[in-house]
Amino acid sequence: MGKNNKITPSGSGDIIFEQCEAQYELTEKLRTIFTDRGYREVRTPGIEFYDVFASRADYIPPESVYKLSDWKGRMLTVRPDSTIPIARLVSTKLKGHALPIRLYYAQRVYRQSEALRGQSAEMMQMGVERIGDATFESDTEILAMAMEALKAASSAPARIEIGHVGIYNLLMTQLHADEDEKSKIHRLIAAKNYAGLGDVLERFGDSRTAEILRKLPALFGTTDALSEAERITEGYDPALTKILDYLKRLLSELKNMGFSESVMLDFGVVNQAEYYSSLVFRGYMESTGMPVLSGGRYDDLLSDFGETLPATGFALNIDLISAATLKAQKEKTDQNAASISLDSGKVRIALTKGRLEEDFVKILETAGYDCSVVRDKGRKLLISIPGTNIELFLAKAPDVITYVEHGVCDIGIVGKDTIVEHGGTYYEILDLGIGVCKFALAVPKGTDFYEAYGSRVIASKYPNVAASYFESKGMDVDIIKIEGSVELAPLLHLADGIVDIVETGTTLRENGLEVIEDIRRISARLIVNVSSMKLKKAAIEEISRRIGEVIR
Ligand code: PRP
Repeated sequence: MGKNNKITPSGSGDIIFEQCEAQYELTEKLRTIFTDRGYREVRTPGIEFYDVFASRADYIPPESVYKLSDWKGRMLTVRPDSTIPIARLVSTKLKGHALPIRLYYAQRVYRQSEALRGQSAEMMQMGVERIGDATFESDTEILAMAMEALKAASSAPARIEIGHVGIYNLLMTQLHADEDEKSKIHRLIAAKNYAGLGDVLERFGDSRTAEILRKLPALFGTTDALSEAERITEGYDPALTKILDYLKRLLSELKNMGFSESVMLDFGVVNQAEYYSSLVFRGYMESTGMPVLSGGRYDDLLSDFGETLPATGFALNIDLISAATLKAQKEKTDQNAASISLDSGKVRIALTKGRLEEDFVKILETAGYDCSVVRDKGRKLLISIPGTNIELFLAKAPDVITYVEHGVCDIGIVGKDTIVEHGGTYYEILDLGIGVCKFALAVPKGTDFYEAYGSRVIASKYPNVAASYFESKGMDVDIIKIEGSVELAPLLHLADGIVDIVETGTTLRENGLEVIEDIRRISARLIVNVSSMKLKKAAIEEISRRIGEVIR
């Protein structure tokens, strides 16, 4: 008997009683919405040939797919997505079926990710696909159904954000950027990293394309964002005007259908390595921290399977929605005074304890917030800022990222060092200009790091940063993770050098080490949960505007 016989793998788990009931209730509601509109159910196998998902490498990151082999040694995969196998099914067994084909599914998908990040490897998905129709009406039908599904799923405020990948794609064809710059720009727009984007685009001067790209990530909202998008792109390219006209028409149609409160546009949407070709949308619900619905138009996917049929669809994350519903119910009945209310009117800021704390509190004070309670906090980790809806939480830097990614905090104040080491999905909207220091490679004074034979050993609190730095130099080094006082490692001959933060340089000097290469500048950033940015837009923008005015 194996020692793992009583546990489940990271990212998976048992679903018990009320969780099953909540999921059942939700899927039944959705089933009614879908079948009432003439959608019929299909199911694709849990195990498919790997080739089904590998027609284009960028659809699904290969490392996230569970792989196994059949008795002939052919590679199989546990279903990582529902739309791709449905494209296979429609192109084969449903070939010749009357168009449009309206179908829905309720099935589990499986993707692996780095352990201990709180992400599920298994997800119950329920979604629809409308295949064989490229009309405006097919988009509005799908979007209206997505709105209805989201409303049925949540009693709390929910919102759908609509974008178009064509905007970014078109602008990038006009920008004479190399591949490295293109991938940086893609990443920075996706992260709404205004400061970083400005730096990368500096080389392109004040060209019209660079000017529009610079403004793209901040362009989200409703009619205001649309008017601003129209203003800055006026006369730029008829293809771009056509996309904006389409989004305008879509917004007005959805308003006519009574969804005006719950729709917003985001012009800074970029293709997230998926199969969407034009319209893309995501649904957000309070207290889930990440999108609970995603969809869009994928007119080219079926051609991978030999059919040329336009299509559009969306899927909901049933586990996430039903867990949020149960959490909300539990909170209503929970009398535990120690637990923190999930009151949606609050804006929660996770602030990195220690070095950044004092400087950020100064920024808040200059921005007009009364922080006397923070200064007299004692050992308290949760502080409400008087006269505001802001709650401040003090946490260790990597935990700030975790709280923001999971949406339990809306905003995080954290160093770029932790951001580059930990990665994650959130918006990085302000460079606060505090906690300024650098990543550097340092060695014992007088030693020649590059001269000696044999492999080099590097100690670091930031093993990912160190690894990618040496990878970029094409140098094969061994990296040892050290938790603190990393300068000790070369002194004790555990390592030849260190990759670490250098602020004043005192620690290095006093321990006989010297910097031989600067790796990158570091400063504190204001990060925002993706879902909060859409659901608490006004409150978050007010805080970032006030802070932005102080740090400028
Ligand atoms: C950081 C860093 C260096 C030191 C650099 O450590 O890892 O050791 O600060 O600062 P300086 O250039 O101003 O001397 P930290 O104080 O966070 O402690 P730790 O090493 O125990 O994590």
